[in-house]
Amino acid sequence: MSLADQISELKARALNTLQGTTSAADVESWRVSYLGRRGELAGLISRLPTLPAEEKRAAGQAANDAKNALQSAYDERVASIKSASRGDGEAVDVTLPGIPPAVGGLHLTRQTLYEIERIFASMGFSVFETREVESDEYNFELLNIPPEHPARDMWDTMYVSEDVLLRTHTSPGQIRAMRKYHPEPLRVILPGKCHRYEAVSARSESMFYQVEGLAVGHGITLASLKGVFQAFAQQMYGPDREMRFRASYFPFTEPSVEIDISCTCEGRGCTLCKGTGWLEVSGGGMVHPTVLRNGGYDPDEVTGFAFGMGVERPAILKYDIDDIRRFYANDLRFLQQFA
Ligand code: PHE
Repeated sequence: MSLADQISELKARALNTLQGTTSAADVESWRVSYLGRRGELAGLISRLPTLPAEEKRAAGQAANDAKNALQSAYDERVASIKSASRGDGEAVDVTLPGIPPAVGGLHLTRQTLYEIERIFASMGFSVFETREVESDEYNFELLNIPPEHPARDMWDTMYVSEDVLLRTHTSPGQIRAMRKYHPEPLRVILPGKCHRYEAVSARSESMFYQVEGLAVGHGITLASLKGVFQAFAQQMYGPDREMRFRASYFPFTEPSVEIDISCTCEGRGCTLCKGTGWLEVSGGGMVHPTVLRNGGYDPDEVTGFAFGMGVERPAILKYDIDDIRRFYANDLRFLQQFA
């Protein structure tokens, strides 16, 4: 076949293909493959100089003809796709992809809270939310921490006024829950935001979340706390995790414990557990008789256990997050990974 014939064959084929395009993107890729600088037509034209003179004339004409025909067919096609009308005469390309609406996601902390709440709900705990701005009385005094008590040093506090403060822990909710439920037995968790006047670092933020747990009733012992927390820890951290209690001190529990879970390094030593094989996840203990009394219960009748744990920590462990400040820095590049 002569080059001229090849060119007219190409022209026919290209025009035919153009009929099948339905979107601006289709038309553009059609243009690239037929009319583009590296397209088929250009490929054939590049062979012109090698032809004998008489063939060259015929092929040259065919090439011009094809080029013009394809170019005007292309222009028409583009115009017809663009002119799909919006009704008000405005041209709109109905084939353009739509703008997908941005879908939000739950914050990592909220996801962790839901997980914790789900596990405790399965053990009969209800969620009891209390205030974030508290009185000195609830945050400290009713929890057996009088003014001037040295234990106040455990919580560096941000005060709003002389007796109003941002709660430093969720424990004041214990009193609020007890005052609401007494003398009935209760089983609640108290999730919420807490604030401390901290030097902010990779390990501590001035604002963070805690979940407090509280059970009051007949025959509740430290073993009850151990059983409940063990069941929680295995669902939260995995069935192979072990748990241990270590003696500790809090003014509102007696006895008091720190609750540790075994580290995934299994004691081989890692930076997370600093080689100890254990990770501290919660404080806890038996509710102090004075605190029970402040909540309206008779400590000769009932006993209770309480615990209080951080919420960011489990997420940090699960996702290996290197810096707690990322949680509330509002950097979407971080947050979207969990959405
Ligand atoms: N409120 C304590 C803290 O923030 C934790 C705790 C809660 C300890 C309940 C014992 C009982 O450190």
